Amino acid sequence: MKIITVKDSQQGGKAAFKIFATALKNGAQVFGLATGSTPLTTYQELVSSNLDFTRAISINLDEYIGLKADDPRSYHAYMQKNLFNLKKFKQSFLPQGDATDEQVEVERYNQVLAAHPIDLQLLGIGQNGHIGFNEPGSSFGEKTRKVALTASTIEANSRFFENEAEVPRFAYSMGIGSILQAKQILLEAYGSNKAAAVAKMIQGPVTVACPASALQKHPNVTVIIDQAAAAELKN
Ligand code: GLP
Repeated sequence: MKIITVKDSQQGGKAAFKIFATALKNGAQVFGLATGSTPLTTYQELVSSNLDFTRAISINLDEYIGLKADDPRSYHAYMQKNLFNLKKFKQSFLPQGDATDEQVEVERYNQVLAAHPIDLQLLGIGQNGHIGFNEPGSSFGEKTRKVALTASTIEANSRFFENEAEVPRFAYSMGIGSILQAKQILLEAYGSNKAAAVAKMIQGPVTVACPASALQKHPNVTVIIDQAAAAELKN
């Protein structure tokens, strides 16, 4: 893993932007995208740049089950607001949270991924080490599936909802197996509440107890962290 330590998330967004720009220049066409607070500065950099994504495809990691695409709390709405309304992509895929048949939706998404291998996958990390919505215990071989969110993730994500009871209990998520298929992976983490997960991801054992530790098995991973998120790393 290549580790880049930055002062704050603003600088992190600039460092992540450079990685996107280089990938695009080198012919990347399929970008795996993430939601949450972490990638916001990266999206701001992409939006204010003149990079051209009109021939690129995006594929998002996950979506809450039960939320319609136009629900402002959905990851669809987040992506529209923070990126797609401001930077044009050729085509964008997300799991459909209100799909009537969950199994059909899972298969559809796995076909999307099979048809469009990801060149660069952007990731955040949960405080419990989750990537996408792959909570601790998720096997490293999984593709897209329906997952149950843990209590700590529900609590952490409740800030985007009126209260904790409103947070959906299930999501569709690309599996760790799908994530590891990406040619290149870029993970960003900012703030002291990510420090323990970051240390386990980089220096802990490769274990399903820390889903992000699976990234140690991938040959092309860059991690961008600020000093607070780097605080529990040894050396
Ligand atoms: C959610 C998302 C993840 C994200 C994580 C961290 O659970 N499913 O993809 O990485 O939260 O979010 P944040 O960046 O807001 O800390």
